Amino acid sequence: MSQPEKIESLLKEERSFPPPAKFAAAAHVRSMDEYEALYKQSIEDPCAFWASVAEQNFRWFRMWDRTLDWQLPHARWFVGAQTNLCFNCVDRHVERGLGDKTAILFEGEPGDVRRLSFRELQTEVCKFANVLKSLGVKKGDRVTIYMPMTPELAIACLACARIGAPHSVIFGGFSVQAIVDRVEDAQSHVVITSDGGWRRGKVVPLKENVDQAAAQCALIKTVVVHRRIGERMESGAAPLVDGRDHWWHELMAAESAECPPEKCDAEDMLFLLYTSGSTGKPKGILHTTAGYMVYTATTAKYIFDLKPDDIFWCTADIGWITGHSYVIYGILANGVTTVMYEGAPNHPDWERFWALIERHKVTKFYTAPTAIRAFMREGRQHADKHDLSSLKLLGTVGEPINPEAWMWYHEVVGRGRCPIVDTWWQTETGGILISPIPGATPTKPGTATRPFFGIEPAVMSKDGTVLPPNAGGLLCIKKPWPGMLRGIWRDPERFVRQYWSEIDDVYFAGDSARMDADGYFWIMGRVDDVIKVSGHRLGTMEVESAIVAHPAVAEAAVVGVPHEIKGNAIAAFVTLTADRIGDIASHDGLAKLREELMQHVTHALGAVARPDQIRFTQSLPKTRSGKIMRRLLREIAGGGQVKGDTTTLEDFSVLAKLAEKDE
Ligand code: WT7
Repeated sequence: MSQPEKIESLLKEERSFPPPAKFAAAAHVRSMDEYEALYKQSIEDPCAFWASVAEQNFRWFRMWDRTLDWQLPHARWFVGAQTNLCFNCVDRHVERGLGDKTAILFEGEPGDVRRLSFRELQTEVCKFANVLKSLGVKKGDRVTIYMPMTPELAIACLACARIGAPHSVIFGGFSVQAIVDRVEDAQSHVVITSDGGWRRGKVVPLKENVDQAAAQCALIKTVVVHRRIGERMESGAAPLVDGRDHWWHELMAAESAECPPEKCDAEDMLFLLYTSGSTGKPKGILHTTAGYMVYTATTAKYIFDLKPDDIFWCTADIGWITGHSYVIYGILANGVTTVMYEGAPNHPDWERFWALIERHKVTKFYTAPTAIRAFMREGRQHADKHDLSSLKLLGTVGEPINPEAWMWYHEVVGRGRCPIVDTWWQTETGGILISPIPGATPTKPGTATRPFFGIEPAVMSKDGTVLPPNAGGLLCIKKPWPGMLRGIWRDPERFVRQYWSEIDDVYFAGDSARMDADGYFWIMGRVDDVIKVSGHRLGTMEVESAIVAHPAVAEAAVVGVPHEIKGNAIAAFVTLTADRIGDIASHDGLAKLREELMQHVTHALGAVARPDQIRFTQSLPKTRSGKIMRRLLREIAGGGQVKGDTTTLEDFSVLAKLAEKDE
């Protein structure tokens, strides 16, 4: 951990944008006064606040006995209640007469479009829930899902929620080792996948990756394969394995469309989602049913100001928490149409997103700063060609947005008309914690602004002192909220250590921040061994262990370095085993080994973790006590002091001696 004393924020942004009057006039929350009043209520009596929200907007099979049971750091919300999240996202809307309304609007990368009404979604979900039951999946069993962004991915998740079988979705961009690690940790026997998915005109070999994972992991007993690519799949690629694999459509054909929703306890596990931390293995973040439902739906309603006729598009993959909460659950729970797009933002060209917004009349658009920066680099002409007048609100998530990208988003995409919500949250928080309320909060480029209802953040020093405005420190949350994680799967001790021990009795998020004189929070970045690459969260240790698994490698150290588009890029410093040092004696040999290591990481973890730089070094610079000098490595990687492609091994020992006193 770096020292909070040294955290200094240099950002000074003076511009401020009030909510557009027309937007505010029709919004759920129309002024700062209204926000302040609601916020005050929610903090003074959180139980009353959340109980009233929960009563009004959801279907319960049994009401709760107590709204909150808080045994620090363990929270239980809506204790004793019974509900079903799938029912609340699907059936409830059919019952209120919205059966024909589009629930999922899907566009595949090749251009195929499908619309599923709430009624059709209900049928598909019920059938697939019955498929899961027929395969022997019981309440509480973890189901692994590894699919492209197709409606079937959402159907699989909702079907799990319907029968009370927690899902563990693995991002389709991850690879073999990531599947093995997650399946083993979750002790999951059933994997739902697809023959492949489309990405930049190529097929992502999802089924092949599952086959390779299964070869290393005997836990995988059953694989259901959705046919996405079909005829266009190379013949012979990843054929079904007898007795283990089944076609989705064949299983579905045999099932009925009747499947009563399981009456889940409020605190029944809803899903696991693996995320990176400071160790080599990702941790399974555990979310439960009622609190997550109430929190994601309520944040979605107020922060995106959801209205019945909205067409909401969140570009995140369902493999990340953003996709769980704001592609599926939070949006469908509000009965709003959610857009799913399968492919890359720049396929076939950089107009794709804008063409899609125009074609489907998207009203609310939620994406990542890294995407905005990439569009910005390509120039505004791509967006300018399209009619974006359907847009009413823009959102960002995943990393700090630099004011320049914020302004571009505001002017080029929002055409100066749309409020922007910069939303700060985490896999662990379930839903958004800090964000503007679009009809109320004046925004400033680069800040997530004020806390959501019921959230009490504070910027603290390590000893637990709340710091004065504008001082940089650790971002903490002082009270429990319904959507918070309930634990780390199979590691209760790590849950306490990781989130509740850095500072006594408060939730520590792993980020540094400062609060300005208006009470706006400016997020400064991670203070742990997590790197945000294109908004994706990667653990340095995870990438290091993937590199070290290569036979030529003796030791590896990975650091993040600033990158114009991705926010951060990965730089890896590698020492070779004695018998392989000779490999890099020639330029060709060096280039070959470097490429091999890059491939190796891509194979193990996925392309998101592929290092941008690999440098071979004699030894890693370490302090006398043996700690790798990461700050020095960051300087070297960022500053280019040492040429990356020299065939003599880089020797940092002198630099290390000079730097030791500052580490
Ligand atoms: C980390 C959590 C939340 C869904 C996607 C990421 C960073 C997230 C913002 C923001 C500045 C942000 C933080 C946080 N982050 N949103 N609006 N401004 N930083 O979820 O993968 O769990 O990552 O993302 O560092 O701790 P995640």
